[in-house]
Amino acid sequence: MKTLTPLEASLWLTLCGRALDNRSPRPILGDAMADRIVRETGYDHRELHLTPSAALNIAHRAKKLDEVAGRFLAAHPGAVGLDLGAGLDSRALRLTLPPTADWYDVDLPGVIAARRELLPEAATHHDIAADLTTSAWLDALPRDRPAVIVADGLIAFLSERELIALLDRLVGHFPGGEIAFNGYSPFAVWAQRHHPVGRSIAGLTKFPGFDDPHVPEHWNPRLGLVKEILCTREPEVADFPPVLRLVTRLAAHSAALSRKGNVVLHYRF
Ligand SMILES: C[S@@+](CC[C@H](N)C(=O)[O-])C[C@H]1O[C@@H](n2cnc3c(N)ncnc32)[C@H](O)[C@@H]1O
Repeated sequence: MKTLTPLEASLWLTLCGRALDNRSPRPILGDAMADRIVRETGYDHRELHLTPSAALNIAHRAKKLDEVAGRFLAAHPGAVGLDLGAGLDSRALRLTLPPTADWYDVDLPGVIAARRELLPEAATHHDIAADLTTSAWLDALPRDRPAVIVADGLIAFLSERELIALLDRLVGHFPGGEIAFNGYSPFAVWAQRHHPVGRSIAGLTKFPGFDDPHVPEHWNPRLGLVKEILCTREPEVADFPPVLRLVTRLAAHSAALSRKGNVVLHYRF
């Protein structure tokens, strides 16, 4: 595998998070493919300082994004699915895609080359090598089909202006659809910069974060909030290890506190 740029290499954080979740006694996501890739490449996840709770949160939010995409594709079998900043994730393999749906994974060129080397062909045949801060890549996508768009761990690497422009382009391209991404509160941005888990991506993140899930509705009037998914309140918490489950259940009482942690924001347009 060719050397990835530091930005591209951010994919290890989420991939290893899902791999570690898969190795836990009660996986939340059970991403065997992530586990397989980490083992096969011999990547040493210890340098990422991933705590069990960080790994679990990564797996949990991936599961929430899978659910959004899976529900949309079940209701719109002719739709298009997009994973923005897909890394080495094989979300399309975790979902049961209707045969009439098409799934596109978009990431920077080094990542797309690595996907083609490491993932089964079924997970890569619509891969697009592109910088999401540009617009020409959208020309490769149909304009006349609804779309479900997910971005897992991406927006931290975009400036607010870049994210707004990206959302504008997506909303303008498709006739309608849904968009979901994990949110970052200003606290989460601060914590990422000061916690050892964020060390590998220090200096690469640009997003300032926001707390109010309605903020993107002001960026683009076609976006409407479907749900602010506060992961502390999701059913998978029942499967968390005891101490983490207790702490998470306590945090769940406060939306303000929950919002500072693992959140998935889901919009329609
Ligand atoms: C933390 S990783 C998440 C990867 C994947 N979504 C996952 O959950 O494993 C962030 C990903 O965003 C990609 N990325 C960051 N900025 C990008 C940009 N401007 N255009 C395309 N991809 C970008 C990186 O290359 C990396 O693969």
